[in-house]
Amino acid sequence: MKNKKRKVRIIAIFMTALLVSVLSGCADSQNGGNRTSTNQGNNSAVQTQEAISEGVVQGSNSQILIVYFTAAENSGVDAVSSASYTTIDGTAVGRLRAVADMIQENTGGDLFSVRTSVIYPADGSELIDYAADEQDENARPELISHIENPAQYDTVFVGYPTWWYDMPQAMYSFFDEYDFSGKTIIPFNVHNGSRFSGTIDTIKELEPEADVIEDGFTVSERDVADAADDVADWLNGLGY
Ligand SMILES: Cc1cc2nc3c(=O)[nH]c(=O)nc-3n(C[C@H](O)[C@H](O)[C@H](O)COP(=O)(O)O)c2cc1C
Repeated sequence: MKNKKRKVRIIAIFMTALLVSVLSGCADSQNGGNRTSTNQGNNSAVQTQEAISEGVVQGSNSQILIVYFTAAENSGVDAVSSASYTTIDGTAVGRLRAVADMIQENTGGDLFSVRTSVIYPADGSELIDYAADEQDENARPELISHIENPAQYDTVFVGYPTWWYDMPQAMYSFFDEYDFSGKTIIPFNVHNGSRFSGTIDTIKELEPEADVIEDGFTVSERDVADAADDVADWLNGLGY
């Protein structure tokens, strides 16, 4: 029964991924391609974002923290040739990192990348399987990045991709590690059709004493590169 359910899920996600890769292949060929690989001569202007921190990167507002998990910063160096990156101003960044940067531009908050000791597969279909196994096992991947002083923040933006209609298991590790009682949590998300998929309610359960904002920001993976104005409007609506 479990195997059957799993099979159905895999088929569903592959059908979606196939459709998306066909569509984004069309879009990429129209704009000259917005992804990079380590050996693509015709795309040499695209650089990989290099500074991946294992701690907080300070902004100008020490009461706001912007947390994000992205496959691109947890997949090893070869991931630059995978589908895990988008290109912003000629730099290849993980999609969640791109949205986190947009939030930082508007709020000045500190930036924090959720990093795992697990090196996730750079290959898309391997990652799909790996993440399904992690979810089936209700795994808690070990985190190697830690927030030095969580008490200093009033507001914590938390960003993650939708993986199998849920958060990546690393985000469960993250919420296990920190108690955000009395703080405001503002979710943001990148997806391929499922949007938040119930994850805001899950965060409420994991952090029952936090004020979890339901009006989170969610964007399709295909629209991340053009999301800056939408992010600014959303933040404006929240009073930032
Ligand atoms: C393992 C895995 C599972 C996914 N499951 C879903 C899903 O259930 N629903 C959905 O809309 N998108 C799903 N996606 C698409 C991701 O949410 C999307 O590609 C997102 O941009 C990934 O962000 P990142 O590249 O910054 O890690 C999945 C992607 C992966 C790699």
